[in-house]
Amino acid sequence: MADATPGSHVLRHHHITIATGGAQEDYEFHTKVLGMKSVKKTLFYDGKVPIYHLYYGNDAGEESSLVTTFPMRHTGVMGRKGSGQVSYVALSIPTGGIDFWRNRLTEHGFAVEQTERFGETYLDFEHPCGVNYTLVGVADDPRSPHTQGPVPADMMIRGTHSIGVSMRDAEFMEEFMQVGWGGNRISDDRNLIRYAVGDGGSGTIVDFVVEPDRKPGTWAVGEGAIHHMAFEVASHKHQNELKTFLEAIGYTDVSDVKDRGYFDSIYIRTPSGAMFEATVSHKPSFTCDEPLENLGMDVMVSPNIESNKEELMSQIGFLKD
Ligand SMILES: [Fe+2]
Repeated sequence: MADATPGSHVLRHHHITIATGGAQEDYEFHTKVLGMKSVKKTLFYDGKVPIYHLYYGNDAGEESSLVTTFPMRHTGVMGRKGSGQVSYVALSIPTGGIDFWRNRLTEHGFAVEQTERFGETYLDFEHPCGVNYTLVGVADDPRSPHTQGPVPADMMIRGTHSIGVSMRDAEFMEEFMQVGWGGNRISDDRNLIRYAVGDGGSGTIVDFVVEPDRKPGTWAVGEGAIHHMAFEVASHKHQNELKTFLEAIGYTDVSDVKDRGYFDSIYIRTPSGAMFEATVSHKPSFTCDEPLENLGMDVMVSPNIESNKEELMSQIGFLKD
């Protein structure tokens, strides 16, 4: 157990952010195949080409239920999988849902491999753009599922369970996790090392995959690579204390606070190469610009591009439900 330093402000997962391929393909994969709720559709615009930022999760888009994507195909920017990055996301399903999900994914044309690690059963498969996903059977995950989707609620995904981080060497990242990020070393299994933050359990886990010979992956937002993992902190005070603490102990590559519309974030490039984020949700968060009953239906844009919205939408195209 780490001492009660500001590292202990890191509570659990908040969201994972992935650069994917086509927007419609990504939308259908998450909402129709995985049955997640479209929690928010937004548009990112840097002056050249609009890019969707899509959020999927449970009914209210609660912290640790969230997968967010940047569909990048129309930009031509490709990512490469490798070491020094988050290499897969594991989503929590009920232990009784393994057969259901193996059949469902297979019927939708996905190649599924059933594997075991840390005594848990996983269904490994790929997003249509090649990003590695896996579903893991978890007994009694208390988090609420999406209840109005195509997958029955008793089989439904509960949120992120763990991420895999591929790295060539464990030493400096273990130090970062223990000293900087309030993590606890739980166990290991072959070339895997398991850490958990906060109170532990599903939605708090980081598994490190030690792959000394694996070529580094890309850090840019490019199709087919996971970009970063965000963790929840409770308040701006905690976020600031964490930033100051990390910088004081030598991790100087911590960003300033960025307002992401629904939450405020700081980013750090960790010694593993993977980017982590510490995130404070706005209150209210996803309901700040549309009511709960309409969540994720229309495309929300920031005030500075509101006057361009129609033109940008004609460039990028509407997503079909
Ligand atoms: Fe993020």
